[in-house]
Amino acid sequence: MKITIEIKRFNPEKEKKSYYQKYKVDADPNDRLLDILMVIKRRIDPSLSFRKSCGHGVCGSDAMVINGKEGLACKTLVKKVADKEGAYIRIEPLRTLPVQRDLMVDQKKFFKNYRKVKPFFINEKEVSEKERMQSPQERKKIDQATKCILCVSCYSACPVIQKENPMYIGPASIVQAARFIDDSRDNGFDQRLPELDSPDGVWSCKNYFFCTQVCPRDIQVTKIINMTKKKIKDFNN
Ligand code: SF4
Ligand code: FES
Repeated sequence: MKITIEIKRFNPEKEKKSYYQKYKVDADPNDRLLDILMVIKRRIDPSLSFRKSCGHGVCGSDAMVINGKEGLACKTLVKKVADKEGAYIRIEPLRTLPVQRDLMVDQKKFFKNYRKVKPFFINEKEVSEKERMQSPQERKKIDQATKCILCVSCYSACPVIQKENPMYIGPASIVQAARFIDDSRDNGFDQRLPELDSPDGVWSCKNYFFCTQVCPRDIQVTKIINMTKKKIKDFNN
């Protein structure tokens, strides 16, 4: 079927403002949006810029706003966003971060926040056996959070970052903190606390649930944030 892809274009080195460019393409309903973008780049317009790497929902690099909602181009089938001949798909870069070129955003701020929560294993105690042991039940507690691929979708969709507090560290950083806080082998909770227990930390979250709705890994992001809030409250009482 023939569809029209409308892409928000912007090259800050050459242009003063962004604009939308339309491309008419042949598509199969089972094509992935990433396939269509590759066709446009290879055959129609090599100047179109976007990120991609794995092509299979693992690296998180091709998150973008598809018909108004964050998603991975490689995990979005055409039939999910364009249901009939002549349909339009509008593609825009992620929100809240500066555009570098077309669909590529500068992720520096996102990763600065990510690093603030010390997203790595902390335990200075000697290992008594060959390795630090963990039961299957203990491992289950971090199952959800380990699935995060740092795609930035939740950060882009968060109304707090968009309108209320751009300094909020964001949902993904809290998910990453929880991945280690809830790990039975880690004991770095107090080192992560100053960032998490601050106005720009967990307390900025107002439970809008947009992060949970857009997460391509089906992580219950808002629930993890609320569980982290409870953990901090219990620790402080
Ligand atoms: S929590 Fe989900 S939406 Fe947010 S960065 Fe991780 S994978 Fe992406
Ligand atoms: S290209 Fe890696 S997640 Fe889509």
